[in-house]
Parts: sequence; structure tokens; C-alpha cells
Amino acid sequence: MNKRADFGSDLEQAAFWMPFTANRQFKKAPRLLARAEGMYYWTPEGRQVLDGTAGLWCVNAGHCRPKIVEAVKRQVATMDFAPTFQMGHPIAFEFAERLARIAPEGFSRVFFTNSGSESVDSALKIALAYHRARGEAQRFRLIGRERGYHGVNFGGMAVGGLQANKKMFGPGVAGVDHIRHTHDLARNAFSRGQPAHGAEYAEELERLCALHDPSTIAAVIVEPVAGSAGVLVPPKGYLERLREICTRHGILLIFDEVITGFGRLGHPFASRRFGVVPDLFTTAKGITNGTVPMGAVFVKDSLYEAFMQGPDGIELFHGYTYSGHPLACAAGIGTLETYEDEGLLTRAQSLEKYWEDAAHSLKGTQHVIDIRNCGLVVAIELEPRPGAPGRRAYEAFVKAFEAGVLIRVTADIIALSPPLIVEKPQIDRLFQSLREVLQEVA
Ligand SMILES: Cc1ncc(COP(=O)(O)O)c(C=O)c1O
Repeated sequence: MNKRADFGSDLEQAAFWMPFTANRQFKKAPRLLARAEGMYYWTPEGRQVLDGTAGLWCVNAGHCRPKIVEAVKRQVATMDFAPTFQMGHPIAFEFAERLARIAPEGFSRVFFTNSGSESVDSALKIALAYHRARGEAQRFRLIGRERGYHGVNFGGMAVGGLQANKKMFGPGVAGVDHIRHTHDLARNAFSRGQPAHGAEYAEELERLCALHDPSTIAAVIVEPVAGSAGVLVPPKGYLERLREICTRHGILLIFDEVITGFGRLGHPFASRRFGVVPDLFTTAKGITNGTVPMGAVFVKDSLYEAFMQGPDGIELFHGYTYSGHPLACAAGIGTLETYEDEGLLTRAQSLEKYWEDAAHSLKGTQHVIDIRNCGLVVAIELEPRPGAPGRRAYEAFVKAFEAGVLIRVTADIIALSPPLIVEKPQIDRLFQSLREVLQEVA
């Protein structure tokens, strides 16, 4: 294609190989977005679409917010790029400082990346290097969880627990194992908030400790609330139990807060909501409101200090050309200011009950076998159509888009996570549209 694509008409030969997309299917019947503001997108034809997913779990302050737009414009005209290897620029230091201020106590160090996947791989590498720096190089194992999603790079793919994301890509990283997931429909269907049953699934970690010897395990990584694999809320007591086991065996606990960070659960970070503090945590997405790609790993001070005890010279041979990119830092500062001005990092608390009631009002709608929620996130799980898993939810997604509502689906699970500026009438509209869509889907 050497002429500009005529969007909306013929994309069948388009050059863009789209990620996590059925390209042939999509290009025959594209869904395009051309503009965004606040809670809404608009299609190229000018049709308004209510954003029920904060883009892709990232636009927590809503779209095209003025402070963020202005900050990026100013920065791109002032200094487009500067390196952070053996060099620095003030805005990267300033942004890290501001992030540390909203982090749990004792997390005053921030390592910048460009995405959630890079944050995860960075965190895993920091964990391994930390043990080695302290003379425990035998701790090389990394433990993830079934149905975990930690991005698509080799480390995150390995500790992730989604078969479809792994099966095409060879044996991956050595020394990785998984504990079981916490999904338990039989006991926990239609739970509101944290389910009552399943804390004991954390004991799986003890099983792996017994199997591998805990002194070989470097880190355990979990999402506090698993997002991409269908919103799995941790059973009461589960995260506490994981924390205890890790502490007892000297294993680092990594929370992947790429989705749960920046207000999604009514607190700046999930660790505060659940009262369980990890040793490192990964972020991305909401860190810049999705405006400029960025991620960050937050590291406990004691870990950082361990690196600073070694011989003079580079303490960690790791980093990206764009770690601390000036535009991303500018977007991040504009984002934090917007969050602060509007109380968005805690706003979900005041909406959670309304959101939960609206979501659970879909109980009894045809196909719905579970509804689960936490903060401003909900999953509506559908009974798969016999012989065609995922088809029913996908059709619901297409119909919802046609009805002017953006939802997200994974297998037969519909996930909703609107921008944190969402108002009650928009919540009503979201669930009303979904009810109508589910009544129509066969
Ligand atoms: C928990 C979690 N970790 C990592 C990632 C990967 O982030 P990215 O797509 O920015 O690489 C995601 C993306 O959805 C995620 O939800």
C-alpha cells in the first residue's frame, strides 16, 4: 500500500500487522477510533463510543486531559530526547520523586521502562541480581501463577500462565514454575469484592518450596487482581498468606500492578487496598494515563541499598534507551497532577458500591454464570457456546461497539474498567447496554 489508507473502507491489504488481533477478520470489518475526549471515543464517521475499558486499562483520568496535553506539548518543544545512561535530565528525577511520594512507605526508588512487559522483565532481573549481589546466586527460580498475565517479553511470558501466549514460542526461560490460579466458580460465583474461599491456594507455594528447595527460589510474581485473564480477585487472606510464605523463605514477592496501580482499586496501589506489601512492584499504563508509553518498577529501599554496597561502577547492567524519556516524564507529571487535582487515585472508593450493584444487576441475564468485581473493575463471565469457546463474548463485544459502548473480552469473560472519572449515569448506560446486548446474543 503506497497511498494513505482510506480508513473505514479497504483495510484488507493494510500494512499494519495488528497485535493480539485476528487480522484477517478485523481487516474485513474494521472498528476504528479517530478521536477521544473524557469518557468517550469517536469513530471516523463521528459516532460516539462510551469507553468502558479506559482504552486498554490505562486511561485512568479520561482522554485528552488538558494538563497532560499541555505538559507533553511543552516538553516536546523544549527537549525532545536526552539519554539517561551516565547522563540525566531534571524531569526524570522530578517524576521519580513524585512517584515515590505516592508509593507505599519504604519504596523511594523507581526504575523507568517503557511498558508493562518491560517493567516485568526488569523486576525479574532486579530480583535475580539482588540475590546475587547478596551472595545468594543459587536463587534463580521464578514462580508465576496459572492465568497470570505479565506481558509478552520472554521473562513475563515465562512466568505468565496463559497457554495461548506461550505455545508458539519455544521452551522459554529455565527455572520457572507456577502456582495454581485462584479462580473457583463452584465456591465463589457472584462474589462481591474478595471471595470468601481460596486463601489455601497460596499453600501451593509451600508445595513448590518443598519440591525445589526454597533456597533456589528468587521471586514470586502475581497480579494482586489478575486482569487480562478475566479479573480474578484474590480470595480473602490469600495475598497475606503468600506474603508470609515468601518472607519465611527469603523469597521476593513481586506485585504486578500494571493494571491495579494508579487508582483502579480505589487506592494509589493495590498493596494499600489489600494491606499486603510486596518487595517490588511493576507499573505502566496509568502512569502516564496511556498518553506516552512508559512503565516503572518500584523497589524497596533495602533492595536498592543492597546494590549500592558493591564495588564502584555501574550497579545494574540493565536499562532502555527510553528509560525516563522526557515526553513520558512530562506526561506522567501532568497525569499525577490531574489525579491529585481530581482525587482520582481514591475516587473509585466512592463509586465502588454503585458500580458493584449495577454490575450484579446483570445476574439472571441469559448466559451470565458469574459476576465478580473489585474497585472499578468487573468481570461478567458467560457460559461458553458449545463447541465455540469465546465466540459468544466476542459477538457481545462487536454488538456493544455497534451500540456505542467499548467493552473488553477475554475468552468468554467480559471485563469492564472505565476511566476513573466515570459518572453514575455512564455506569447505568454501560450496564444497560450490556444487558441489551446479552439478551440479543445467541
Ligand atoms: C498485569 C500486566 N502486566 C503486564 C502487562 C503488559 O503491559 P504492556 O502491554 O504495556 O507491555 C499487562 C498488560 O495488560 C498487564 O495487565
